[in-house]
Amino acid sequence: MQAKTPKESRTIMTDLVLPSETNPLNNLFGGELLARMDRAASIAARRHSRRVTVTASVNHVAFNRAIPLGSVVTVEACVSRAFNSSMEIYLDVWIEDRENGHRSKANEAIYTFVAVDDTGKPVAVPAIVPETDLENERFDAALRRKQLSLVLAGKMKPKEATELKALFVD
Ligand SMILES: CC(C)(COP(=O)(O)OP(=O)(O)OC[C@H]1O[C@@H](n2cnc3c(N)ncnc32)[C@H](O)[C@@H]1OP(=O)(O)O)[C@@H](O)C(=O)NCCC(=O)NCCS
Repeated sequence: MQAKTPKESRTIMTDLVLPSETNPLNNLFGGELLARMDRAASIAARRHSRRVTVTASVNHVAFNRAIPLGSVVTVEACVSRAFNSSMEIYLDVWIEDRENGHRSKANEAIYTFVAVDDTGKPVAVPAIVPETDLENERFDAALRRKQLSLVLAGKMKPKEATELKALFVD
Protein backbone atom coordinates (compact mmCIF):
# COMPACT_ATOMS: atom_id res chain seq x y z
CA MET A 1 0.00 0.00 0.00
CA GLN A 2 1.46 3.36 -1.05
CA ALA A 3 2.33 5.71 1.84
CA LYS A 4 0.74 9.17 1.84
CA THR A 5 1.61 12.59 3.21
CA PRO A 6 -0.50 14.45 5.81
CA LYS A 7 -1.33 17.09 3.22
CA GLU A 8 -3.21 14.50 1.12
CA SER A 9 -5.77 14.17 3.91
CA ARG A 10 -5.96 17.87 4.82
CA THR A 11 -9.56 18.90 5.41
CA ILE A 12 -10.58 22.49 6.04
CA MET A 13 -14.10 23.36 7.21
CA THR A 14 -15.11 27.00 7.75
CA ASP A 15 -18.44 28.02 9.29
CA LEU A 16 -20.09 30.70 11.43
CA VAL A 17 -21.13 30.49 15.08
CA LEU A 18 -24.91 30.97 15.15
CA PRO A 19 -27.08 31.72 18.23
CA SER A 20 -28.41 28.13 18.51
CA GLU A 21 -24.80 26.87 18.84
CA THR A 22 -23.80 28.95 21.88
CA ASN A 23 -23.77 28.58 25.67
CA PRO A 24 -25.30 31.15 28.11
CA LEU A 25 -22.15 33.30 27.78
CA ASN A 26 -22.76 33.58 24.03
CA ASN A 27 -19.69 31.52 23.21
CA LEU A 28 -19.61 28.41 21.02
CA PHE A 29 -20.98 25.36 22.92
CA GLY A 30 -18.21 22.79 23.50
CA GLY A 31 -20.24 19.89 22.11
CA GLU A 32 -20.86 21.81 18.89
CA LEU A 33 -17.11 22.27 18.41
CA LEU A 34 -16.53 18.57 19.16
CA ALA A 35 -19.06 17.65 16.45
CA ARG A 36 -17.45 20.00 13.91
CA MET A 37 -14.02 18.52 14.70
CA ASP A 38 -15.39 14.95 14.47
CA ARG A 39 -16.79 15.70 10.99
CA ALA A 40 -13.52 17.22 9.74
CA ALA A 41 -11.50 14.37 11.28
CA SER A 42 -13.79 11.80 9.69
CA ILE A 43 -13.27 13.32 6.23
CA ALA A 44 -9.48 13.46 6.75
CA ALA A 45 -9.45 9.79 7.82
CA ARG A 46 -11.55 8.86 4.79
CA ARG A 47 -9.27 10.80 2.43
CA HIS A 48 -6.24 9.01 3.83
CA SER A 49 -7.69 5.49 3.88
CA ARG A 50 -10.39 5.65 1.17
CA ARG A 51 -12.43 3.45 3.53
CA VAL A 52 -15.36 3.74 5.92
CA THR A 53 -13.91 5.19 9.12
CA VAL A 54 -15.24 5.37 12.68
CA THR A 55 -14.23 7.47 15.68
CA ALA A 56 -12.37 5.17 18.08
CA SER A 57 -11.41 7.79 20.64
CA VAL A 58 -11.07 11.48 21.39
CA ASN A 59 -7.57 11.55 22.83
CA HIS A 60 -7.18 15.19 23.68
CA VAL A 61 -9.17 18.41 23.49
CA ALA A 62 -8.00 21.78 24.74
CA PHE A 63 -10.65 24.49 24.88
CA ASN A 64 -8.05 27.20 25.33
CA ARG A 65 -10.08 30.15 24.09
CA ALA A 66 -13.79 30.88 24.04
CA ILE A 67 -15.19 31.40 20.54
CA PRO A 68 -17.78 34.22 20.52
CA LEU A 69 -21.14 34.27 18.73
CA GLY A 70 -20.73 35.40 15.13
CA SER A 71 -17.14 34.18 14.80
CA VAL A 72 -15.86 32.65 11.60
CA VAL A 73 -14.37 29.32 12.75
CA THR A 74 -12.05 27.17 10.68
CA VAL A 75 -11.36 23.57 11.65
CA GLU A 76 -8.32 22.07 9.96
CA ALA A 77 -7.74 18.30 10.16
CA CYS A 78 -4.87 16.09 8.94
CA VAL A 79 -3.82 12.50 9.53
CA SER A 80 -0.67 12.91 11.63
CA ARG A 81 0.21 9.19 11.79
CA ALA A 82 -1.26 5.92 10.62
CA PHE A 83 -0.65 2.62 12.37
CA ASN A 84 -2.25 -0.62 11.16
CA SER A 85 -5.97 0.18 10.95
CA SER A 86 -5.97 3.28 13.16
CA MET A 87 -5.10 6.86 12.29
CA GLU A 88 -4.32 9.78 14.57
CA ILE A 89 -6.02 12.95 13.35
CA TYR A 90 -4.64 16.27 14.55
CA LEU A 91 -7.04 19.21 14.52
CA ASP A 92 -6.27 22.90 14.70
CA VAL A 93 -9.10 25.38 15.24
CA TRP A 94 -8.72 28.99 14.09
CA ILE A 95 -10.84 32.09 14.39
CA GLU A 96 -10.69 35.03 12.03
CA ASP A 97 -10.62 38.67 13.08
CA ARG A 98 -13.59 40.40 11.48
CA GLU A 99 -11.79 43.65 10.70
CA ASN A 100 -8.29 42.65 9.60
CA GLY A 101 -8.91 38.99 8.64
CA HIS A 102 -5.97 37.71 10.72
CA ARG A 103 -6.33 34.09 11.88
CA SER A 104 -5.54 33.12 15.44
CA LYS A 105 -5.43 29.67 17.03
CA ALA A 106 -8.37 29.02 19.34
CA ASN A 107 -8.25 25.32 20.15
CA GLU A 108 -6.75 22.01 19.18
CA ALA A 109 -7.67 18.35 19.47
CA ILE A 110 -6.49 14.86 18.66
CA TYR A 111 -8.87 12.11 17.56
CA THR A 112 -8.29 8.45 16.66
CA PHE A 113 -10.20 6.95 13.74
CA VAL A 114 -10.22 3.33 12.58
CA ALA A 115 -10.79 2.18 9.00
CA VAL A 116 -13.29 -0.67 8.77
CA ASP A 117 -14.80 -2.93 6.12
CA ASP A 118 -18.53 -3.32 5.42
CA THR A 119 -18.91 -5.54 8.48
CA GLY A 120 -17.16 -3.07 10.81
CA LYS A 121 -13.94 -5.11 10.98
CA PRO A 122 -10.71 -3.03 11.13
CA VAL A 123 -8.68 -2.99 7.89
CA ALA A 124 -5.15 -1.80 7.09
CA VAL A 125 -4.48 1.78 5.98
CA PRO A 126 -1.50 3.40 4.16
CA ALA A 127 1.43 4.67 6.23
CA ILE A 128 2.15 8.38 6.67
CA VAL A 129 5.29 10.14 5.50
CA PRO A 130 5.57 13.48 7.32
CA GLU A 131 7.16 16.36 5.40
CA THR A 132 7.32 19.52 7.52
CA ASP A 133 8.91 20.04 10.96
CA LEU A 134 5.47 20.26 12.57
CA GLU A 135 4.30 17.09 10.80
CA ASN A 136 7.45 15.27 11.98
CA GLU A 137 6.92 16.46 15.56
CA ARG A 138 3.31 15.26 15.57
CA PHE A 139 4.26 11.97 13.88
CA ASP A 140 7.00 11.24 16.45
CA ALA A 141 4.72 11.82 19.46
CA ALA A 142 1.74 9.90 18.05
CA LEU A 143 2.84 6.43 19.21
CA ARG A 144 3.14 7.72 22.78
CA ARG A 145 -0.37 9.18 22.56
CA LYS A 146 -1.75 5.93 21.09
CA GLN A 147 -0.27 3.93 23.96
CA LEU A 148 -1.64 6.40 26.53
CA SER A 149 -5.10 6.21 24.96
CA LEU A 150 -5.02 2.40 24.96
CA VAL A 151 -3.87 2.29 28.59
CA LEU A 152 -6.64 4.70 29.65
CA ALA A 153 -9.20 2.63 27.72
CA GLY A 154 -8.00 -0.53 29.51
CA LYS A 155 -6.85 -2.04 26.18
CA MET A 156 -3.13 -2.06 26.98
CA LYS A 157 -1.28 -2.91 30.18
CA PRO A 158 0.83 0.01 31.46
CA LYS A 159 3.90 -2.24 31.53
CA GLU A 160 3.51 -2.81 27.76
CA ALA A 161 3.47 0.91 27.03
CA THR A 162 7.12 1.17 26.00
CA GLU A 163 6.92 4.80 24.84
CA LEU A 164 5.35 5.93 28.11
CA LYS A 165 7.90 4.05 30.19
CA ALA A 166 10.69 5.68 28.20
CA LEU A 167 9.38 9.08 29.36
CA PHE A 168 9.85 8.24 33.02
CA VAL A 169 12.58 5.58 33.18
CA ASP A 170 16.15 6.11 31.99
C1 LIG B 1 -13.04 1.34 16.92
C2 LIG B 1 -13.34 -0.15 16.72
C3 LIG B 1 -13.51 -0.43 15.23
C4 LIG B 1 -12.11 -0.91 17.24
O1 LIG B 1 -12.43 -2.25 17.13
P1 LIG B 1 -11.64 -3.37 17.99
O2 LIG B 1 -12.38 -4.62 17.89
O3 LIG B 1 -11.29 -2.80 19.33
O4 LIG B 1 -10.39 -3.56 17.12
P2 LIG B 1 -8.88 -3.61 17.52
O5 LIG B 1 -8.65 -3.95 18.96
O6 LIG B 1 -8.22 -4.48 16.49
O7 LIG B 1 -8.44 -2.10 17.31
C5 LIG B 1 -8.36 -1.56 16.01
C6 LIG B 1 -7.41 -0.40 16.06
O8 LIG B 1 -7.99 0.63 16.86
C7 LIG B 1 -7.05 1.03 17.85
N1 LIG B 1 -7.83 1.48 19.00
C8 LIG B 1 -8.89 0.86 19.56
N2 LIG B 1 -9.32 1.58 20.62
C9 LIG B 1 -8.49 2.64 20.72
C10 LIG B 1 -8.41 3.73 21.64
N3 LIG B 1 -9.25 3.87 22.65
N4 LIG B 1 -7.42 4.66 21.44
C11 LIG B 1 -6.55 4.53 20.42
N5 LIG B 1 -6.59 3.51 19.53
C12 LIG B 1 -7.56 2.58 19.69
C13 LIG B 1 -6.24 -0.22 18.12
O9 LIG B 1 -5.00 0.09 18.74
C14 LIG B 1 -6.06 -0.75 16.72
O10 LIG B 1 -5.09 0.05 16.06
P3 LIG B 1 -4.09 -0.54 14.93
O11 LIG B 1 -4.86 -1.52 14.11
O12 LIG B 1 -3.68 0.65 14.14
O13 LIG B 1 -2.96 -1.15 15.68
C15 LIG B 1 -14.59 -0.63 17.50
O14 LIG B 1 -14.35 -0.49 18.88
C16 LIG B 1 -15.83 0.15 17.13
O15 LIG B 1 -16.44 -0.10 16.10
N6 LIG B 1 -16.23 1.12 17.98
C17 LIG B 1 -17.40 1.96 17.70
C18 LIG B 1 -17.01 3.10 16.77
C19 LIG B 1 -18.12 4.10 16.64
O16 LIG B 1 -19.26 3.72 16.44
N7 LIG B 1 -17.77 5.37 16.75
C20 LIG B 1 -18.74 6.42 16.78
C21 LIG B 1 -19.15 6.63 18.20
S1 LIG B 1 -20.74 7.30 18.33
